[in-house]
Amino acid sequence: MPLNIEKIRADIPILKEENAGKPLVYLDSANTTQKPQSVIQATHDYYTRYNANVHRSVYQLAEKATLLYENARDKVKDFIHAKNRNEIVFVKGTTEGINLVAHCLGRATFQPGDEILISQMEHHSNIVPWQIVCQQTGAVLKVVPITDEGELDMVAYASMLNDKTRLVSIIHASNALGTINPVEEIIQLAHAKNIPVLLDGAQSIAHTSIDVQALDCDFFIFSSHKMYGPTGVGVLYGKSQYLESFPPYQGGGDMIKQVSFEKTTYADLPYRFEAGTQNIAGVVGLGAALDYLNDIGMENIHHHEQALLHYATERFRQVEGLRIIGTAKHKVAVISFVMEGVHPHDIGTILDSCGVAVRVGHHCAMPLMERFKLPATVRASFGLYNIQAEVDILIASLAKVRDWFGHV
Ligand code: ALA
Repeated sequence: MPLNIEKIRADIPILKEENAGKPLVYLDSANTTQKPQSVIQATHDYYTRYNANVHRSVYQLAEKATLLYENARDKVKDFIHAKNRNEIVFVKGTTEGINLVAHCLGRATFQPGDEILISQMEHHSNIVPWQIVCQQTGAVLKVVPITDEGELDMVAYASMLNDKTRLVSIIHASNALGTINPVEEIIQLAHAKNIPVLLDGAQSIAHTSIDVQALDCDFFIFSSHKMYGPTGVGVLYGKSQYLESFPPYQGGGDMIKQVSFEKTTYADLPYRFEAGTQNIAGVVGLGAALDYLNDIGMENIHHHEQALLHYATERFRQVEGLRIIGTAKHKVAVISFVMEGVHPHDIGTILDSCGVAVRVGHHCAMPLMERFKLPATVRASFGLYNIQAEVDILIASLAKVRDWFGHV
């Protein structure tokens, strides 16, 4: 079903704002998405009507807060089609989720010579935690190469899986290229050798429906703020067989069963991994974001964004001197590009003066930039609220870049 785009745009208050004195054209949703009023209202309501700590008090206000918090866990479970609510752990974001697995699986169990397989298109948050694990355990980081189109080299991937591989940790959709990786095949090949697979879902969760049971991934991690929810909260989904075997991540309140100075026993899943007071308002806001996405429908969002991607790609191809970086067959609505003779930062500055917000830089993927021998790219990334007219403004603004730098 086509999206009711006028209603959606009216739902998002910031879209009425200006940037550099021009109507805001927000094309940086891979960085963070803008928030619907219902999400803003849910966090506001939490603080104005329900604020109390969760799991700790018997008074009714605290029970309401606990209910809101736990309801959001059920919503997440349903949204990603997990089997059990105990497999849903609230964390700060994707970065913390990956660090949790790196700590509890990597640091706790990997041995010298064990291998961790990642890809050349990973975000720093799926590189650095594993480098730390390698430094601390003697494990070895192996990197699957990508093609010039920005697709994973699946022949190389298959050949790199071996009896020393302890984990495959792969980005589902690339924040810098848009590539959607063939995760079904990645998981099947790894599981054939009994290797668990972690998917970094930060850039896929808001763009397509996710079914962790159908995928059969062992871990799936994402951030609320990239799916129209608040910042500072995210989700680690882990199969309970793994989470049950994990040592604690952080110690403190709410993650324990019994504490004495001699011995502490730990809470059941998922609370064992939620030490200290969590970002309750953030979790409640995430619940509202899930309601919002469910109301619109992930399939509808997917179709809208794919149509926009197709339209934008065609328009970009007509811009002289512009080269798209990342031309994979399957992409989320992200277009990275460079323009001959103009530094991406200059492009970003000129676009900004036209009201257009894009990200320029290495996109937290410096090894990927190195792969393409580029210092940086310009990245336009789309969300469910973007429209073709905004692509047209971006293209018209690129003409100003050309005028400014005459030689392009
Ligand atoms: N990972 C975010 C981005 O790609 C910050 O912009």
